[in-house]
Amino acid sequence: MKNVGELVRRKVDTSYIVERPRRLRASAAMRDLVRENRINPEGFIQPLFVVPGSRVRQPIASMPGIERLSIDETVRECRELASLGLRAVLLFGVPDEKDAMASLNYDPNGLVQRAAREIKSALPELIVAADLCNCEYTDHGHCGILDERGDVDNDRTLEVLVLAALTYARAGVDIIAPSDMMDGRVGAIRRALDADGYYRSTIMSYASKYASAFYGPFRDAADSTPAFGDRRTYQMDPANAREALREALLDIDEGADIVMVKPALAYMDIIRQVRDAVDRPVATYNVSGEYAMVKAAAERGWIEESKIVDEMLVGFARAGADIVITYFAKDYLRRHGA
Ligand code: PBG
Repeated sequence: MKNVGELVRRKVDTSYIVERPRRLRASAAMRDLVRENRINPEGFIQPLFVVPGSRVRQPIASMPGIERLSIDETVRECRELASLGLRAVLLFGVPDEKDAMASLNYDPNGLVQRAAREIKSALPELIVAADLCNCEYTDHGHCGILDERGDVDNDRTLEVLVLAALTYARAGVDIIAPSDMMDGRVGAIRRALDADGYYRSTIMSYASKYASAFYGPFRDAADSTPAFGDRRTYQMDPANAREALREALLDIDEGADIVMVKPALAYMDIIRQVRDAVDRPVATYNVSGEYAMVKAAAERGWIEESKIVDEMLVGFARAGADIVITYFAKDYLRRHGA
């Protein structure tokens, strides 16, 4: 048995190596110096689920570490998040009464509206975004109003969305984020906001939103699983990419300020393509199922959670996302600061 040094010297001709990428990986300082992409916590948005009552913090079984919060607890949580350096939260209302017309969605004293008012008065600097959809408010769990055949009626749904958007804007919501995937909703909302003088209200549209199984835990959290059927007549087919660009461009034409790709992990190619095709900020939503998978595997000790989270987050930056909506925002800020 010859020693290794002798073997290498004799048998490996290295004269062909002209480039040595390892030089730029040689130390932590060198890696920091040449890093191409960085996680930007200033672009994080933390989703929050708002429920009725006071002093309520309800754990969500499939999303360990995330709780549904009453309005007082939501404000408390926002204070903590803001003190950690977070810039923005995304509110979801989870009412305990639902009906066919999603009435509580456009109640001026609904959960999102009251929560937004209280957060903005306590923390005027914190950006309040609100998811605008009907699935948390309808008794059938679909994202719109149904017609006689049980289909989601696009244009009637627009009327409800517009009503709700106006109540959100009046409550001080900074960013309205329609996630219903009805055709034309961005244009309808933009016009109604402008007509009422809310030209400052920003629209972040869930532009390229796929009909995804990754929303499973969210539907437990928001109590919004459709009672029948699925969302494939309004959310996108996961096999389509050109259509995602079309959706993003349509929403921008209709007045979207920010366009989103959702989910994130299985759609990195879409994030990149949208980033290259548009000149607006691009957001991505690191959804509930992506969160739950990491938590479940980490609980079993199969993966190292904090490293996995940081790797995912830098991946979204590399794919081109300016804004990342993630349930890991608080955890990241606790570990690294803003
Ligand atoms: C509302 C909405 C959903 C999500 C965000 N807004 C659920 C759905 O479309 O079924 C999913 C978010 C997540 O999974 O974290 N339509």
